This record gives sequence, C-alpha cells and structure tokens, in this order.
Amino acid sequence: MLAIERLSKQFGGVKAVQHVDLDVRQNEILGLIGPNGSGKSTIVNLVTGVFPPTEGRVRFKDGDITGWPPHRVLAAGVGRTFQSIRLFGGLTVWQNLWVAQNAQSEGGRGVLRRWLAVDRASMTKIEATLEFCRLLDKKDELASNLAFGDQRRLELARTLAAEPDLLLLDEPAAGMNAAEIEDLRERLLALKRRGKTIVLIEHHMELVMTVAERVAVLNFGQKIAEGRPAAVQDDERVREAYLGQRR
Ligand SMILES: Nc1ncnc2c1ncn2[C@@H]1O[C@H](COP(=O)(O)OP(=O)(O)O)[C@@H](O)[C@H]1O
Ligand SMILES: [Mg+2]
Repeated sequence: MLAIERLSKQFGGVKAVQHVDLDVRQNEILGLIGPNGSGKSTIVNLVTGVFPPTEGRVRFKDGDITGWPPHRVLAAGVGRTFQSIRLFGGLTVWQNLWVAQNAQSEGGRGVLRRWLAVDRASMTKIEATLEFCRLLDKKDELASNLAFGDQRRLELARTLAAEPDLLLLDEPAAGMNAAEIEDLRERLLALKRRGKTIVLIEHHMELVMTVAERVAVLNFGQKIAEGRPAAVQDDERVREAYLGQRR
C-alpha cells in the first residue's frame, strides 16, 4: 500500500534518514521503532510532504507521491498524528474535527465558505468519529480544556475525520497512563478491523509488540531490522541499539 524506496533526508550535516526501504501492506499494523533521533518522525514528515526527501521515492497505492504537498497527500488517503499534540486549542472538540474533515481540499482554503453549509452527512460522520474515540460527551468542550489523554484521543479523532486509508501515528501513547494505553490498543485493533492500515511509531514496547504484525527498527537513520515482533525483540542489533535507551 505504501512503498518507501531508498528514502533519505539530510539536514545540514545530519543524515536523519539514510536509504530506507519499507513496505507497508494493506490492512496491517506495522510498528516502527528505534531510539530517540533515529529518524522515525522524519520518515512520517517525508511521506506526508512536510519536506521533500534528499533522495528516494514514496509510492502510495501504486502512485508516486514523492514531494507532494501535505494537503494532497492527505487527500490521497494518508493521515498522520503529530508526536507533539497539535490541536486548535481555542476551538471545541467538534470544531477541531470539522476543520480536519474539510482541510484536505484546496490546502484548507474555502473552509470558511463551507462553514456555513455544514451538511447532515458530515455532522453524522463527525459524531460517529467522536463516539469511536470516546469523545462524544466532550464535543462542546474547548480542546485546550481537555485532560492530556483526551487531547491525544482528539488528535487521533482529528486524523480519522479526514477518512484516511493509511494512518501514520507518531507516538500516540506518549504521556498516556495504563488505562489510556489499553483503550488506545482497542482503538487500533478496531481500526484494523475497519480496514485501515496503520504505521505505529511507539516507544511503549508492550503496545507495539502486542498490536503490530511486523516491526521495523531504525537506528541512526537506517533500518537495522524488520520482521515479526518476537524475532525483532530478540535481534542482537536491536538490543544493542536500545542499550542505555531503556526507560
Ligand atoms: N526539521 C529538522 N531540522 C533539522 N534536523 C532535524 C529536523 N527534524 C529532525 N532532525 C534531526 O534528524 C534526526 C532524526 O530525528 P527524528 O526523525 O525526529 O527522530 P525520532 O522521531 O526517531 O526521534 C535527529 O538528529 C534530529 O535532530
Ligand atoms: Mg519522533
């Protein structure tokens, strides 16, 4: 579904991503792990068009999307969450979803025009997404007033509102407590049952190892291992990469 080929990104002298090949299969949950600074977020940024790669290609559903701007990548069906939460704090939960639902066309332009014409179908979709993310009872609260775990949930809901086929989730469990992580685990498995494809970047090993069918490991911008979670966990290079990085 997503094919990354020899993808590289250099920031000045820093080789953030170096010749990474990665295939994401339709309807799988692929774990993408690696120590801090290993290039995980950069890969998400390269795929979603935040900046162009120095080298390499990104293919999605057999089309070449390398260098496409973010709104076009989103419209093609690739959604992402951010490692640091990015919500419209001054808007309500519902409004955050509405903006997300309408943001993929025209790079977000024309949003105000459509604000006046919220149709029943999009309202129903927003409410269904909020219900799925267990936020329906908080739909009129300002995003900035939500507890941290709910802000993370809203970040996911916002991404789902654009109805992407592929979700790139950048550390969605960061800062969550055990109950919230358990809830996230259920959401991820439910999304998979609904046919979504997910790339899960996560430091929370237990979560990755229990939901991902395959795991790819980055270290210093290079892919050092890939395979079934148990095999990757036992891989000597992976253990070395994580030495001193354990929480
Ligand atoms: N926009 C940027 N400008 C300069 N350097 C960056 C930028 N984004 C990431 N880097 C650098 O690239 C490397 C990989 O970072 P990142 O992809 O954020 O790692 P991870 O998400 O695995 O922690 C790091 O050395 C980081 O400092
Ligand atoms: Mg990161």
